[in-house]
Parts: sequence; C-alpha cells; structure tokens
Amino acid sequence: MARLPILAICGSLRADSLHRGLLRAVERRAPGLQLLGEDLVGELPLMDPDLDTPNRMPSAAREFRLLAEACAGAVIASPEYVHSASGVTKNALDWLAGSTGLYGKPVLLMSASPGQTGGIRGLAALVPTLLALDATLVDPVTVSRAPSRIRADGEVLEAGLDLRLDIAVEQLRDALAVSAVAAR
Ligand SMILES: Cc1cc2nc3c(=O)[nH]c(=O)nc-3n(C[C@H](O)[C@H](O)[C@H](O)COP(=O)(O)O)c2cc1C
Repeated sequence: MARLPILAICGSLRADSLHRGLLRAVERRAPGLQLLGEDLVGELPLMDPDLDTPNRMPSAAREFRLLAEACAGAVIASPEYVHSASGVTKNALDWLAGSTGLYGKPVLLMSASPGQTGGIRGLAALVPTLLALDATLVDPVTVSRAPSRIRADGEVLEAGLDLRLDIAVEQLRDALAVSAVAAR
C-alpha cells in the first residue's frame, strides 16, 4: 500500500541535529507515513514577497509549497533558539502563507533541548503561525535533557521517551484518519 505523504520540517540545520533524530524516530514508528521535504527546508531563501510571484518564485520555494499541498499533514521538529522559534522553521512556514499547504491538516510539533524545558518556548512561538495557516495541532512532544534521551540517528535511549513517541505517532495517525474523513 502507498505510504501517506507527510511534510517534514527540521528547524535545525546542524548535521548531528537531535531534532532530525526526532524525525527519524517518528519515521521508524510510522511505516505507513512517508516524511518528505526535509532537505528543501535548508534551501529555501529568506521569505521575500517580491519573490512570491509565479515568475520569480525560487524553485525550492515552489517545490516546497507544492509538496505541502500534496501532503496529508506535517511533522515539525524545531529547536528553541533564544527563548523563541527557530528562524529556519518560521521561514519555511512563511513560504506556506497564502497556500493551502497546512489547511485543516494535522501537525505534530516536537522539540528537544539539553535543558529542563525541552524547548517548549520555541514551539509556543510557532503556534500562532500554525493556527494562522489553519493547521490542526496534535499534542506536542517536548524532550528535556535531550542528549541523554535521543540520538541524532533517531535511536531513543530512554523508555519514557520511547512510549511518549509511540503515543504521539498514534495520535498523529488518528488525526490523519479524522482529517481524511472530513476531506471526503
Ligand atoms: C542560537 C541558539 C540558541 C539557543 N537557545 C536556546 C534556548 O533558548 N533554550 C534552550 O533550551 N536551548 C537553546 N539552545 C540549545 C538548543 O536547544 C540545543 O542546541 C539543541 O540541541 C538544538 O537542537 P539540534 O540538536 O537539533 O541542533 C540554543 C542553541 C542555539 C544554537
């Protein structure tokens, strides 16, 4: 059976990103979902409305927007930078303004941080943008003390996080099923 396409955004461009690890961990738990678009995110230019026209839109932005529109939902793993959202993620979402890329679609938000708050302020800062894009948010995942709990290759090192990710993927699948029924 064909896998369901899901837009993936990693808000860290770091090679050994733990957020990329979170995306890999979701992927492993959800063989029916195909995470797409991760590589395009780092290629997106800074949002410039002058480029947001059919003739001038950069190819990465065009591809990213079309991909979002073709996807059934999104998984966003995004760090907290200086108590707010990663600019990488915000820029990617800004390129979806004016499109139906996330309209009515389930979005799973995740963050990881070496500190105790797990990057929750970074996710909180993204919420108004996602609601403005008419996304439907499922329960977010925040991972405190992340370097001792997950690796960049997606291996989960702690049973509690293992279970939390299982539940997150189940909730995402349920939300995808509901939105598929609503779209009929
Ligand atoms: C520019 C910058 C700002 C950061 N600000 C915060 C912060 O406000 N709160 C926090 O918990 N961690 C902060 N961190 C640490 C990140 O949470 C940590 O580096 C995390 O592992 C980044 O995710 P990654 O492993 O996917 O790159 C910051 C890191 C950078 C590079």
